[in-house]
Amino acid sequence: MNGLKNKYGFFSEDGREFVITDYKTPRPWVNILSNGHYGLVISQTGGGFSWLDNSNLNRLTRWQQDLIRDDQGKYLYLRDEESGEFWSPSIFPTRQEADRFACHHGIGYTTFVSELHGIRSEWKIFVPLNRPLEIWTLKLTNLSNRARNISVFTYLEWLLGAAPDAHREFHKTFIETRFDSDEQILFARKRLWEVPARRGHWNTDWPYVAFMACSLPIDGFDSDKESFLGMYGSLTAPRALKHGKTDGRQGKWLDPIASLHKQISLAVAESCQIHFFLGAEKDEERARQQVRHFRAKNQTAHALQQVSDYWDKLITRTTVQTPDPALNLMSNIWLKYQAIAGRLWGRAAYYQQSGAYGFRDQLQDSQIFLYLQPEQTKEQILLHAAHQFTDGRVLHWWHPLSEQGLDAQMSDDLLWLPFVVIQYLKETADWDLLKLSVPFYDTATSATVEDHCLRAIHLVLNRLSPRGLPLILHGDWNDGLSAVGLDGKGESVWLGHFLFYILNEFSLILRKTNRAQLARFFAEQGRKLKQAINKFGWDGDWYWRASKDNGDLIGSKQNKEGQIYLNAQTWAIIAGTAGTQRQKHLMDMIRARLNSEAGPLLFAPAYSAPDEEIGYLSRYAPGIRENGGVYTHAATWLIRAANRVGDRETAYETYRKICPAHKLAHPDVYKAEPYVTPGNLDGPDSPFYTRGGWTWYTGSAAWLFKVTIDDLIGIQADYDGLRVNPNFPKEWQIIRLQRFFRGRTFHIEIETVRSAREEKCTIFVDGSEIPGDLIPARQDHKNIQVVIKRYLRE
Ligand code: GLC
Repeated sequence: MNGLKNKYGFFSEDGREFVITDYKTPRPWVNILSNGHYGLVISQTGGGFSWLDNSNLNRLTRWQQDLIRDDQGKYLYLRDEESGEFWSPSIFPTRQEADRFACHHGIGYTTFVSELHGIRSEWKIFVPLNRPLEIWTLKLTNLSNRARNISVFTYLEWLLGAAPDAHREFHKTFIETRFDSDEQILFARKRLWEVPARRGHWNTDWPYVAFMACSLPIDGFDSDKESFLGMYGSLTAPRALKHGKTDGRQGKWLDPIASLHKQISLAVAESCQIHFFLGAEKDEERARQQVRHFRAKNQTAHALQQVSDYWDKLITRTTVQTPDPALNLMSNIWLKYQAIAGRLWGRAAYYQQSGAYGFRDQLQDSQIFLYLQPEQTKEQILLHAAHQFTDGRVLHWWHPLSEQGLDAQMSDDLLWLPFVVIQYLKETADWDLLKLSVPFYDTATSATVEDHCLRAIHLVLNRLSPRGLPLILHGDWNDGLSAVGLDGKGESVWLGHFLFYILNEFSLILRKTNRAQLARFFAEQGRKLKQAINKFGWDGDWYWRASKDNGDLIGSKQNKEGQIYLNAQTWAIIAGTAGTQRQKHLMDMIRARLNSEAGPLLFAPAYSAPDEEIGYLSRYAPGIRENGGVYTHAATWLIRAANRVGDRETAYETYRKICPAHKLAHPDVYKAEPYVTPGNLDGPDSPFYTRGGWTWYTGSAAWLFKVTIDDLIGIQADYDGLRVNPNFPKEWQIIRLQRFFRGRTFHIEIETVRSAREEKCTIFVDGSEIPGDLIPARQDHKNIQVVIKRYLRE
């Protein structure tokens, strides 16, 4: 038993499920299921919604963001035809408590198991690979000592387009439902889509047809909310359930829903399994083919197995084994799943439904694939490069399907392209990437990936202040610093560190691609930048964060609030803008000023009132999100910085404070899911200090994984191999890392040895000691055994 549990639930033995046994969790605890196109989010009581390709512009079902009520979802009802009693396998919406209940959030599925009125139900929801639909598998078992007649009713509300459809009375008039009785499929289409009109304004059909069907012939259906619920009726006790039948309404004049009714007879101890299919296709014929495919024997079981095999193969490529079971299951399973299913594919969660690709966001997230399937990182790089303008600037975000985007003047977005390209090249040495040709967003011209990166770097170099610091413009990594540089004068010290890193690393790349002159130019620009940062950006004990258009500083001793910012210090260490002595001093400052019970604060103290010249960050409630909370994405960088200065205590302490599976002890204070990272934890200026929020939709998932492997375990990809620099607790005697790298598997064992000798590592590759700190990439076989002895002073 891994022992990881709290009063609401537990991690299964293999860590691949979080099983919720008390449905009254302090917030909805959700799962995200996606195959990269079709997706859905589902809470522990069945709340949530479904989409195709874009969780914002192309939602199939309706939902309202209400994390307190969480009472809108896609539901099932069971009805005992003898007694007329009815209930729901996910407890909501009838809210009848079950004799036994468990919601299993797993990798690629969610299953509700419940027992009530002598009927056991197992309701599994999953999304097959490569298909635009979800499958609900319902297994009913008669536990009572008499034969039973049970009716099953499904319920969901059609949305069919952009969310939310705030003006329901307008939108519903465009939706048409139709029951195809030959094929037993309920179809829904909409003759309006808010997204691109080919000609004119709002003049496009929703280019899909949605469908819902059962694996067996049904006993009734309804697509009218009024007849299903009854006027002034409720989901808790719908009219259809009271009467035990549906009205069979369809057409263009309704408030459109989908409900299918199926009766099932169960002898004593008998079980029965049925499936429901919900999805969207280009046309009815294709929808019919999907349904026919899954009605065939064993196809649903086969599809479920494929999903399970897919995830299994993907996530087991790089794994760790340490004495910390929470770290193990987060790294081996959940962080990858969160980053891929939630951030890269679904781009949706309960706290945020984006649907769009954030230029910097999904590029960073795609780093998760470096350890698993780097070709996917490459795909992401190419996709983002194609959203760059010829002058080097990029869209802050854009929507797939509509290609609408925001041409915001963020100062850093564009640099994440070279940043991720650098990481990709270190991982793969696939230098051909640089030569691939990718079009620009604004013209028909194309350029190589290398050129795309260079345009980004040059543009940032052209946006320096007179004293040589980068301009912050409308924001840098911190979106909330949205008013600091509106007049084009304010500067960003964090961006300076980031640019310094990019200049040095890209200059190395340019040397390898034989562009020595440009390489020298970048290195020279880097040197100048470093000087400027240390001369003007140093506040005496730390780096200030930004200067406003009027020259006032942010993140300086002079400020009463927002005195010291984390990123301006961690990145000085990571990029090496600060010298060795200064790096150590910065670590002390971080510990003294930013450390908190919740983790390292993004800055401190929080702003208590809006500051028009800072931006919306100062408008959040104090201690929340970017206003002086722990912003977990940024917090992960402290683990990286700690590695650079060899600070083991800070590294693991930071890890423990932000790792969700380490937050099991006080669920009613922490509130968030224990299996995925939150975007933020409240800081000390909030009365809800240490509360977690904004789960799933956060860049911290991929980064927490990355810093765990690269910086805590301390095995990091470099151009010629894996660089060794462990920084995990000295008490950890032995840890193992299975690292997928360049198509090979490196089985690495790191043993801590107490000695009187100097602190260092010796590395044995397949039994032979090698000099230096690099495990060579070049190996002549597929499985490489590496033993590292880490000597620590007694
Ligand atoms: C949000 C944005 C991300 C940004 C972060 C900090 O998570 O999506 O791009 O870096 O906030 O402001």
